Order: sequence, then structure tokens, then C-alpha cells
Amino acid sequence: MSPNEPANPLGDLLRESRRFPPPESFAARAHVRDRTVWPEGEEARLAWWAARARELRWTKPFGRILDWDPPFAQWFADGELNASVQCLDRHLGTPRAHKAALVFEGEPGDRRTLTYAQLHREVCRAANVLRALGVGRGDRVAIYMPLVPEAVVAMLACARIGAVHTVVFGGFSAKSLADRIVDAEARVVVTADGGWRRGHDVPLKEAADEACALASSHGVEVARMLVVRRTGRACPMQEGRDAWWHDAVAAASPDCEAASLPAEHPLFILYTSGTTGKPKGILHTTGGYMTGVAATARMVFDLKDEDVYWCTADIGWVTGHSYVVYGPLANGATVFVYEGAPDFPAKDRFWSLIAEHRVTIFYTAPTAIRAFMRWGDDLPARHDLSSLRLLGSVGEPINPEAWMWYRRVIGGDRCPVVDTWWQTETGAILISPVPGVTVTKPGSATQALPGIVAAVLDDAGRPVERGSGILAILRPWPSMLRTIWKDPERYRQVYWSRFGPSVYFPGDGAKRDEDGDFWLLGRIDDVLNPAGHRIGTAEVESALVSHPRVAEAAVVGRPHEIKGDAIAAFVLLRGGPPPADAGERARLADALRDHVGDEIGKIARPDDVHFCADLPKTRSGKIMRRLLRDIASGRALGDTTTLADPAVVDALRRQYAAAED
Ligand code: PRX
Repeated sequence: MSPNEPANPLGDLLRESRRFPPPESFAARAHVRDRTVWPEGEEARLAWWAARARELRWTKPFGRILDWDPPFAQWFADGELNASVQCLDRHLGTPRAHKAALVFEGEPGDRRTLTYAQLHREVCRAANVLRALGVGRGDRVAIYMPLVPEAVVAMLACARIGAVHTVVFGGFSAKSLADRIVDAEARVVVTADGGWRRGHDVPLKEAADEACALASSHGVEVARMLVVRRTGRACPMQEGRDAWWHDAVAAASPDCEAASLPAEHPLFILYTSGTTGKPKGILHTTGGYMTGVAATARMVFDLKDEDVYWCTADIGWVTGHSYVVYGPLANGATVFVYEGAPDFPAKDRFWSLIAEHRVTIFYTAPTAIRAFMRWGDDLPARHDLSSLRLLGSVGEPINPEAWMWYRRVIGGDRCPVVDTWWQTETGAILISPVPGVTVTKPGSATQALPGIVAAVLDDAGRPVERGSGILAILRPWPSMLRTIWKDPERYRQVYWSRFGPSVYFPGDGAKRDEDGDFWLLGRIDDVLNPAGHRIGTAEVESALVSHPRVAEAAVVGRPHEIKGDAIAAFVLLRGGPPPADAGERARLADALRDHVGDEIGKIARPDDVHFCADLPKTRSGKIMRRLLRDIASGRALGDTTTLADPAVVDALRRQYAAAED
């Protein structure tokens, strides 16, 4: 096991013996009812994926299935299609045309419904606007938006004309947005005046303006900005660059022929954290990605025409891309979209939304589930949740207690729970129960989906049939990332070097039990998952050291009851020791937290800031992260014999204990 083996966040998993077979009534109606759909052997596997791909609409059918030059894959490479056609045009001319595609509720309670026909028209109009702004095939467009229907429209409009979207989560700072604009060389930005979050109007346009100025100082000029009016806050428009979305879109034609694009045409870049300070631009392409998300949305969520499906993710994350937008819309589902937070104006907002909109499928993150648990059973009990038929979880390991609570209190003991494991890089769910087939266990993502070959390996790359090790994916799959934007060497090195160039290394620890089921244990690298959001410790460290008072910083995770990971920062100050006065120390700690918030975004603010006289390092000068993790979480200290100065650790430990008092 790697030196970064995580503390098992799930307790003693191999003792978990509760089993939940699919309810008969569910299984009887499910799209997938038996295990015969799992193809066996490489030939059958490729044929199975080709059959899934042929369920899409191709303008030019493909002949080739997979070209695999490890670690570079091309899927269906001689075919042509368009992602927006899968989500829109395919449903027109069928009864789905006039069913709701998006049902939106804003935080203030405003509602809008767009049928597939209406969504199609809006997307066509927006696509024409983008074209008129000079956006062409392969050009990058940054989308920095609240979770409103226009965000979905903007993504699909890019896809329609072959532009590449890069959605940046609205909670990220102006600087983070600028970094992404620069790396992607995006010349067009779509944003909004603001977005509602817990009653506050978050100033997005202001941040976008700042980001454009920063990008310009790095040589990337944003030529055009489209601004959606959401909150009505005043925002200055820059002459010649900025235009209101509603003016431009209303004036555009609702007809726009979709570009016929090669299957490997880039669909989007989504930045995600890795082990260095620089986020990676994960590149997904059209044919394989659409095949993966369409097939998995159907299998895992069992989407039917009458469902109202709600995935609570923001479109700024991959879950929003694959399971708010592309996967469910490709299946003609009705997708419920909610702008706000779960606890505003009250902690039962989600339950009232489920009751009012008769949501049937609900997909959220363990952090949210643990918060709901803490808020108490009486909040969901006040609402009629009987419309629900399936529950999903994603983003972090879910502890059995939270899984059981979710199933019992939200699912009324009748809804299957699917714990879905995947990543930004995998594009689509790879390991998950299939709800009409799989016997579920609280805390286990169970089995690889059809067409996926997953394993747990030991340090030497040998399969672990039972026990813990490192998760690996042994064969390429259609929705896999194709590269890191502008950095194929980093792609090879990060994902395809641990076990050789044809085995994908996701960076997660995992266990297999006696049935061969997978239990995901969290990251084994220096990536944290606070509240299901991915943050690299190196990113937080470089934000900290950019503060004038910080000489050196080391950031680690510690277990947190609700968020999964909390962020703990160990900071060595410059310009004198930390203030002796506790109040002043706390103010300095807050100033450092705010600084990280400004540099990256609020989600990266450290929970704990420990000032220290020195950082524990090995004789070769490497920061002893495992030791810091132990200290931060109050666990026993590890072996200190390699420390340059063991007294440092004692000092840290005493300090930590004092802070906990
Ligand atoms: O550590 C795993 C964790 O989230 C990481 C991927 O993060 P991101 O790319 O932001 O995508 C999150 C949404 C797909 C993984 O490496 N993770 C995701 N799902 C699970 C999980 N850990 C345990 N169980 C899961 N179901």
C-alpha cells in the first residue's frame, strides 16, 4: 500500500453483513433485470460498447470501435455525430418533444419549465449568437454561471457548433477563473450578473471582469462576454465586449443546424485538482463520452419517461456535466434543477422540493446526507417523499450509517440506493449497483458496470482478490479522458505510469470482499475531497505561501464527521513568530483562510490553521505528511526516527491538543 494510505473512513467494512436485494416491484420494471447484459471477454465487451454507441444518432456511422495506442484511446473514430442532437433533436418528432426537459426552481422560489422543443429552440438561438460572436469549431468558451437553465443552454449551444466549453464552478474565485481562461485560451465568457446563494446575490459578473483583466495580463484577451440577467444587480457592461444574453438570444434565429463532428472532436475541458498546484484540464470528446453517459444514466438511474430526476450537483462539476445535462437529457428524462443550497431558507428545502415536484430519482453526495442526518429525521418526515423510487450517492465514500439512514428515512426502506464511483477523468460512472439486479450493501459501490474491467491491485500490480489495495481500471472505456489539455506527458505520467501504460490508475484505495464487491476508501494521493469537492493540497499550499506573512505551508486532510475531509494547514510564518495573543492569532488565521478563499474559492478555505515553529521533514527535506495527518486528526504519532528534529513534532502535537481544548 502507498505511504499515503488513508485512514479507513468507513470503519471495519469487511464486517458489514447487511444485504439488500432489489425490491421485486422495482426489478420487474427495470431496464436492466439480469446479469446477462455484462459482456464477457474483450471482443464481447467492444461489441457491447458499439451497440450502446449505435443507440445514439450518428450523422456518419462508425466502422472502427477502439483504436488503442496506450495510453491514448480513440473510440468510434471514423463516425460523426453531435452531442446536442442526442440531447435534443432525437426527442423531437416523438411524444417527448412536449414533455418537460428542464424543471427549474430558483432559490427565491421562481419556477420555469422548458419542454424539449423549447430547450431545442433556446439552444439553437444561443448557438447562433455564439457563432455571430465569432465562435467556431474547437474554440473554447468559459461558462461561469449560477445553476440556472441558461447554463445548460450555453453548454448545449457550444456542443451544437463544435465549440469546447469549460465550465467553471460559480464558487471559484476570479483568480481561479482567470487561470482556467488562460490555460484554455478562452476568448468568450458566458456569465450572469449574479446568482442566489442563501439569500445573497453572488457577484459573478464582477468576478468575471476581474478574471478577464487578470487573463489579459497573462496574454489572453477575452473578446466577448455574454451576461445572463439573473439577480438584477447593477453591473457595468464593457462597450464592445459585453452583451446581455436576453437581448442577443431573443434576436437570434431558432434554427441552427448541428455541426456534424468527428467522434473524437473535443466536447469539453473540465479542470480538476491533482497533486500539483496547477489544476488539470481534463479533456472529453464527443462520441465516447456521449455513449458512456447515455448508457450509464439509463442503467444506473433506470430513467423512464415518467420520472422526475434530480441530481443536486452544480454544472461546474463533472457530476453536473454527465448527470444533470448530457446523460439524462440523452435519455429524454425530465431533469429537475435547483439553484440554491439545501438549508435555505430552512433545512427542509430539499424535502419540500421533492414533495412539490414529485421527484422520483434523487442523486446527491454523502456530505449532504450526513448533514441531513444531523439535522434530524423530523424534517424529512414533514414532507411527502413517497414519489421517490431510487436514491443515488456520489463523490466520496459513504459510511454505512449514512447509507442506512438515507435508505430508511429518505427512501422509506423501499428505494434502492446506488453508490456510484467515478471521477472527472472517467466521464461516467464505472462502479455502481445496477438497481434492478445488484444486491446492495451499505457502504459498497459493489461491481464494475457492464463494459468496465476494474481490479484492486497490490503495490506490485498483482490482483488482490480479497482485501485492500489500489483501484485500477484494466481496459479503456469510451467516456475516458483523452488527455490533459496541452499536456499529454502529464496525462501519461499521472494516470498511466503506476502500473504501466495500459492500466488506468485513478488514485483511490479500495477493498474487495468475499463476493468480489468493491468498497472505495478515498484518495491515496495528495488530493482531498472536502464535502465532495476535489482540492489538491498543493493548491492550498501555494495559495497560502502567496500571503506575505507565510514562509512555508503544509496542508493535509483530517477526517470530518460531515464533510468527509477537513482541510488542515500547518503554517510557518515569516516576519516574526505568531502573535502571542490568542485573539490576534485567531484573526491572523482567519486572514489566511480568507486569502485562500480569494485565491481559489471558498471551498478551499482551511478548517484548521496551525502555526508552527518548523515543519516536520525527513532528512532529505520531504514534509512528513503522514505525520501531519496523524497530528491533525489527533491519531497516534507514527515513527519519528527519520525526523530532522523530533522536538518539532512534540511541539506541534502539544499545540494541536491545546487548540482542541
Ligand atoms: O476519491 C474518489 C471520490 O471522488 C474522486 C473523484 O472526484 P471528482 O473527479 O471531483 O468527481 C466526483 C464525482 C464523480 C474519486 O477519485 N469518489 C467519487 N465517487 C465516490 C468516491 N469515493 C467513494 N465512493 C464513491 N462513490
